Amino acid sequence: MGAIDLHARPSKDFEARLAETQKLLIRAASEFAPLKQASSLGAEDVVITHLINSLELDIPVFVLETGALHQETLDLLDRTLAHSRAPVEVYRPVQESVVHFVGREGKDAMYRSIALRKDCCAIRKLEPLERALTGQKAWITGLRKEQSAARADVPLVDESDVPKNGRIKLNPLANWTWGDVWHYIGANEVDYNPLHDQFFPSIGCAPCTRAISLGEDFRAGRWWWEDEAAKECGLHVKKEEKVAA
Ligand code: ADX
Ligand code: SF4
Repeated sequence: MGAIDLHARPSKDFEARLAETQKLLIRAASEFAPLKQASSLGAEDVVITHLINSLELDIPVFVLETGALHQETLDLLDRTLAHSRAPVEVYRPVQESVVHFVGREGKDAMYRSIALRKDCCAIRKLEPLERALTGQKAWITGLRKEQSAARADVPLVDESDVPKNGRIKLNPLANWTWGDVWHYIGANEVDYNPLHDQFFPSIGCAPCTRAISLGEDFRAGRWWWEDEAAKECGLHVKKEEKVAA
């Protein structure tokens, strides 16, 4: 049984949520430009890219290709580059920094301490993210309230980082359920990462993502060896919430 059969269950007010999302994206394209969508190529993000393309919005998409993604994710990236109407930009880490870090700490450094894991995320994700977002007024993410306790208050329009970096974060699927996401994918035949059919609800880098078992939390397969509170890579953590290593 694939992810669509397993999960596609629209909420009662799915149509209203979809309309809210479409309205926000259309408004964002004019009011918050220049802006980009950050896509990990996960289920939420392929839905957003599909909406950007079907609404013919001028919103580029970027993928942080960390150099540690699964082959399935890289294959989906190739298909997206080939088929997306909206331009898709790929940002990679500074190769010298990766070589230096892996040479010094080894390729399994992330399992040894939270500090080393965060150093790896800083090199492979955060530095490329800053490059991707330079000069942007806003960015779009696939964060949803339902994903974790830390994300329960995610708003559609998040202006809390504006004093820090001048950027608005838009979370057009904030109110969607997992069932809504898969309903949209199924109904619109959206291409998705086949790892979702193998019990990977949340997909990051290969060394730091595993499948989950029945009854486990949505993000249980991400950095599974760490405490719940530490399990964010820094892409979406407010400075004051960062866990000391
Ligand atoms: S993470 O902080 O734990 O890695 P998660 O995988 O849940 O985040 O993704 C949340 C959102 O962050 C995605 O919907 C996407 O907008 C952005 N994001 C995460 N990983 C990437 C990536 N590799 N490239 C671009 N955007 C990403
Ligand atoms: Fe490194 Fe893992 Fe962070 Fe990817 S998720 S950047 S492999 S520590």
